[in-house]
Amino acid sequence: MLGYVWQYRYRFLIGVIGLACIDMAVLLMPRFIGQAFDALSDGTATRELLTRLCLTMIGIMTCGIFFRFLWRYCFSGVGLKINRDLRQRIFDHLQTMPPEYFDKHRVGDLTAHMTNDVQAVEHSVAFGMLAGADSLVMGSAIIVLMLTENWKLALLVLIPAPIIMVVVRIIGRQIRVLFGNVQEAFSAMNERAQEIFAGIMVVKAYGDEEASLDSFGKEGRAYVDNSIALVRKWAMMGPLIMVVSNLCMALLLWFGGKRIIMGEMPLGTFTKFYMYLGTMTWPMIAISEVINHLERGCASSERIQTILDEESVIKDGKEKVEGQTILEVRDLTYKYPGAVKNALENITCHVAEGETLGIVGRTGCGKTTLVDLCMRLYSPPKGTVLLNGRDVSEYKLDELRGVFGYVPQEPFLFSMTIKDNIRFARPEMDDEEVVYWAKKAFIHEDIMRFKDGYDTWVGERGVTLSGGQKQRIAIARALSLRPRILVLDDALSAVDAETESEILKELGTLRGGATNIIIAHRLSAVKNADRTIVLNNGKIEDIGTHEELKERSPYYKELYMLQSAVIEEGK
Ligand SMILES: Nc1ncnc2c1ncn2[C@@H]1O[C@H](COP(=O)(O)OP(=O)(O)O)[C@@H](O)[C@H]1O
Ligand SMILES: [Mg+2]
Repeated sequence: MLGYVWQYRYRFLIGVIGLACIDMAVLLMPRFIGQAFDALSDGTATRELLTRLCLTMIGIMTCGIFFRFLWRYCFSGVGLKINRDLRQRIFDHLQTMPPEYFDKHRVGDLTAHMTNDVQAVEHSVAFGMLAGADSLVMGSAIIVLMLTENWKLALLVLIPAPIIMVVVRIIGRQIRVLFGNVQEAFSAMNERAQEIFAGIMVVKAYGDEEASLDSFGKEGRAYVDNSIALVRKWAMMGPLIMVVSNLCMALLLWFGGKRIIMGEMPLGTFTKFYMYLGTMTWPMIAISEVINHLERGCASSERIQTILDEESVIKDGKEKVEGQTILEVRDLTYKYPGAVKNALENITCHVAEGETLGIVGRTGCGKTTLVDLCMRLYSPPKGTVLLNGRDVSEYKLDELRGVFGYVPQEPFLFSMTIKDNIRFARPEMDDEEVVYWAKKAFIHEDIMRFKDGYDTWVGERGVTLSGGQKQRIAIARALSLRPRILVLDDALSAVDAETESEILKELGTLRGGATNIIIAHRLSAVKNADRTIVLNNGKIEDIGTHEELKERSPYYKELYMLQSAVIEEGK
């Protein structure tokens, strides 16, 4: 954790200096007041003496304002900067992680780390280190001052002091546990609400409101119960500290008072002690709070470190992609990490430049897995996926992914305008070009029907697009890259048959000479492919043209019969 602070050491140092000045000012106060009391009680006080003391005190306090501002500014600043640095580092790191990392880690968890843990580190720096330095300097200075003033009395009145530290430490720990529970209950409640609202259609359609209310109510009650338990502990801490600190005062009054009566001690000493004790309470509380904060900060920074230490299993290569584009898969067998059964087995196929490859097969047979592996979104075993005769792992990832234009099965649109969604991969595109690609993807007319046209906002704050509209916007996005290999993963499934055939025709002319990989459920989408792979349960059942497969492949034949029957009926 010190590493985080190191780069802001100068700012930190200025803060510490400001702090030391303040502490000195605070410690000087009792001295002047003690002097005044002594003078007043033995009758040597003069008007000049009092004026001088008052002016000095006001002067010190005024300087104090400046230094107090200085240290707060410095320490909070360092804390906030560390917060920003850490968040940026986690974010940058997560960006490099492959999809399988996000299969394993919940996004909610990761964002929690990005907020809660980072904040804990910030606090432990801003508050923890600050208060730690403060209370150490202040506490030891007061103790030394008291000991030199009157060591016997000092030891006597300080007897109960360590109790404060113990109390704060023990209760502080319990508070931390309870605080954790409250946070957990809060996110459980949040998650439940989110889930219910996200699935509101299902809840309503099945008339399930009662049950939803019930389950939300339960989470809500758990949250309240946990919060009350926390407040109870909080409420105990303050009074306990008061009791102990008053105990010190009582001891002072008892023993100090006796001495004064017997004339063994001047009133000024008593006053000084009284003030020292008052100032002592804060360092006592602070020290234990500091330990709590630092502990939490260390635990959090360890958790952050484990996230940062996890290396991407997908290592970047060095090679550039050159020449024509030949994609080849050789005896590829792949199992997802943690899965029991192979997603793909002994796949061998290739697609040369300018060819169109179709892939069909039942849901779950491995179509998406196959193309994801080609793009190295997941890591294929060495030597099984080759581009231009070279293993894909040898290419720079940017280069490799630049070859592909990918329209995933469930295209994702960001919360921004339709225009920005289309030019997401190439932000430098002008409006004219955006329109050009939209027309190519047959989405232009749909877009023009919206009130704001291309500036229509997508998502929560804007229009809700139909599945087919989303797919076509994603196709426009992919086409605009003029990729050497276009991958459509069931990307025409929600588009009507007529538009589908228009788009395919357009692809034929637009992408003359480039490679297409079309995954589809409707045979009409792959009818004109040079070759089509029939996948079954992770294995290749057959490869051939439409005409060949129609005769040979049982699955293809079945699909063909079913779909042509529908077409016949439609006519
Ligand atoms: N990220 C993943 N982690 C583990 N298993 C997966 C993952 N994605 C898909 N699978 C499994 O791999 C198999 C093939 O899935 P997929 O390639 O998506 O099939 P398709 O695209 O043909 O419907 C399925 O059994 C699926 O459950
Ligand atoms: Mg799929």
